[in-house]
This record gives sequence, structure tokens and C-alpha cells, in this order.
Amino acid sequence: MPQQRIVVASGKGGVGKSTVSACLAQEMVRRRHSVLLIDCDIGLRSLDLILGVDEHVLFTWADVVLGRCELHQAIMFRDGIHLLCAPLQPERALADNMLQKLVKTCSQYDIIIIDAPAGIGFGFRMACLAANRALIVSTPDPICVRSVAVAVRQAAKFGCRDMRLLINRFDKHLALRGKSMMIDDIIDQTETQLVGVLPQDSRLFLKNANGEPLRHSPLLDAIARVAARLEGEIVPLQIVNAE
Ligand SMILES: Nc1ncnc2c1ncn2[C@@H]1O[C@H](COP(=O)(O)OP(=O)(O)O)[C@@H](O)[C@H]1O
Ligand SMILES: [Mg+2]
Repeated sequence: MPQQRIVVASGKGGVGKSTVSACLAQEMVRRRHSVLLIDCDIGLRSLDLILGVDEHVLFTWADVVLGRCELHQAIMFRDGIHLLCAPLQPERALADNMLQKLVKTCSQYDIIIIDAPAGIGFGFRMACLAANRALIVSTPDPICVRSVAVAVRQAAKFGCRDMRLLINRFDKHLALRGKSMMIDDIIDQTETQLVGVLPQDSRLFLKNANGEPLRHSPLLDAIARVAARLEGEIVPLQIVNAE
């Protein structure tokens, strides 16, 4: 299969982009792929914290593209996932096509997952340009859905053709009571094909109490179905409530 470079984007903040990026990376490793996870949230990175390597970050991808270190010096390794962290400060010397150039040198990975920042500005553009597929994350509320619709149009302008909608934090009881949006309304308003629905799940996402990678949770099982669909498998849509 050709290399998949998947940007996880939304337009809005706090909807689960980084959570989805980390869980999807873990699932793709479980599926025996070599995975590079790139945090593109300049100034507000979070994947180092989610993967528990925050105290060990020496270099970021900005150091690589600006020639301050070699790629291998910036890559961190945790539970089979290779991670490139985002810089803590914006830098004038960064251009929006630099991540695209960097990922072209990463042909050894089967899958590259790029966690985009909120908004549709510089970091979003940079992340979209580097990708060949997009997972657009939306929660089932009108404010998020509107920002997703804008992000979908913007991502198309940056060359994203293969876009899929991923609904996060969906609670079917709330939807049936009219307290959150219905799935088909979200699909209609974003004009994007659905790839999965993830439940609201307040359990730890990646680790159990002993620090071991979590194998199953309603969220991880739903992510596993998304990963299978991304790889062309036919998996029936399941709407699971975790809570
Ligand atoms: N499916 C979910 N169920 C419960 N909490 C979630 C879920 N997805 C994300 N969260 C929580 O929402 C918050 C924001 O998630 P995050 O992945 O950082 O969003 P973003 O990257 O879009 O800003 C985090 O506290 C995260 O743990
Ligand atoms: Mg994030």
C-alpha cells in the first residue's frame, strides 16, 4: 500500500484531534505498520504529554527543517510510535511547505499522522500541504460543525482530496433526546463522507493504571474500526455509548 499521510484537523480546538491522532497511531502500530506521528500545533503541542515523553523533548521538527539537528535526533520513540514534536514558539523562518518537504524524506514509514492545530491559519495549511488524506474531526454541536465545514473547504484549497468526517464524543441518548446533533445532519452540513463515530469516553485513553498501553476501551475499539476502514476493510457502523 502506498504511504498514507493523514492530517487530523477540525478548524475548532478541543474537539479531540490530538486524542484521535495518538489513538490512531497506537492502533496503526498494533496493525504492524511503522508509524510517524507529527505534532503540528506550534506553540500548543500536546502529543509529548499524551505519550508521556514531555520531559525528554530535546529537538522538534522545526529544528530539523531549519537545519539545527538531524531527523533521527528529533524523533522520539514510545510504545512503537515515532513522534516528532512541535516547536514551543512560532519562528519567522518557518515556511508553510517545510513539513511537506520533511515528510518526503520519511519514506521508511507506512503511515504518517499529522496532528493539526485549531484554526485554519499557518499551521493548518502546513499540516494539510504535507498530507495526502484528511480526517476531519467534529463533535456533534452546531458551532463545531460550522467550523468543520469551513475547514473542509479550506483543506480542499490546500490540495486535500481524500477527506473523511470523524464524529467524536457522540452520545446517542443525547442525540435521540434532541440535545445534540444527529449524525446525518452533521454529514449534510459538512458535505463530507463519514468514516466513524467515536463515543464520549472519560477513561484513560492510552494507558492503564500500571502505565501499560491500554488494549481495549470503547474509544480505542471505535478507533480500531476507523483504522480498518481507512485501510479499505468493510466494517459496519457501530454507535457505541461508553458512559
Ligand atoms: N471521545 C472523548 N471522550 C472524552 N473526552 C475526550 C474525547 N476526545 C477528546 N477528549 C478530551 O477532550 C479534551 C480535548 O482533546 P484534544 O485531543 O486535546 O483536542 P484538540 O487536539 O482538538 O484540541 C482532552 O481533555 C481530551 O482528553
Ligand atoms: Mg490538539
